[in-house]
Amino acid sequence: MTDHQDVALDWMSGEDDEPHVPVDLRPDVPHPARMYDYYLGGKDNFPADREAAEQVVSLGPLVRISARANRSFLRRSVQYLAEQGITQFLDIGTGIPTAGNTHEVAQQVLPEARVAYVDNDPIVLVHGRALLTGSSTGIVNVVQGDLRDPKSVLSDPAVRAVIDFDRPVALLLYAVLHFIDEVDDPSGIVRTLLDALPSGSYLALSHGTADFLTPEEADRGPAVYRGATAQLTMRSKEQVARFFDGLELAEPGLVTAPLWRPDEDPQDTDRQVAIWAGVGRKP
Ligand SMILES: C[S@@+](CC[C@H](N)C(=O)[O-])C[C@H]1O[C@@H](n2cnc3c(N)ncnc32)[C@H](O)[C@@H]1O
Repeated sequence: MTDHQDVALDWMSGEDDEPHVPVDLRPDVPHPARMYDYYLGGKDNFPADREAAEQVVSLGPLVRISARANRSFLRRSVQYLAEQGITQFLDIGTGIPTAGNTHEVAQQVLPEARVAYVDNDPIVLVHGRALLTGSSTGIVNVVQGDLRDPKSVLSDPAVRAVIDFDRPVALLLYAVLHFIDEVDDPSGIVRTLLDALPSGSYLALSHGTADFLTPEEADRGPAVYRGATAQLTMRSKEQVARFFDGLELAEPGLVTAPLWRPDEDPQDTDRQVAIWAGVGRKP
């Protein structure tokens, strides 16, 4: 992707009658979504994203291994949720589309599965909507929204067009809560979202941790993200476990991502992956 092409991109909409609003993609500032795309081997990133991402890659834990382990957890957990009969998914902090997106995984199990994707980064919206062109708008919607404002996410008409909040929903918060600072009350955000969901709903989340790093190593990743559009806050297992308060944790509980219902022998170590992952059910 060249700077020229990207800055020239207009807002792409799933609805033909929506106005085309130019998007400032801020190619000179690292965006976590584009850095993550780079870790996964994608092409939707700019030099500033690649430079910041390379700094993180050079630090350890092995962030590429970590990103792939996270995507693999997404696939296994969405499949698990669909197998539990969940047909509605609210996926906040979607990321730039890559292989095995939530709707593709869920619809393999349940073709009627509906997904509302929400992200606050315009580039995710551009790519998300491009991906969905010609596919089933209204069953899968891509919405610009901010996790720090959960009430607006819940009341967004494009979210409500896809999700019926009277029926169980899987709330997906993969690798996004670590971009929410304590001052923004991440526990309160999760509670607000879960309060809007009926019994039988689920929360699936993954979260970066420094539990396996030395204190010095632990600050290096957040230091790089200080120049990006969102800051990184690693959390301990105990802190991540609190997001599941009041929920019934599905087996095997809160574990590092490769250990959550693996479909092959996990090869990567906790230190390489450094991501807590779990799925909980609202009783
Ligand atoms: C590391 S990516 C994770 C992508 C995907 N969920 C996954 O696990 O593969 C984090 C995503 O969260 C988004 N994000 C960060 N802060 C956000 C916020 N406050 N509201 C909504 N999305 C946010 C970023 O734009 C990025 O797309």
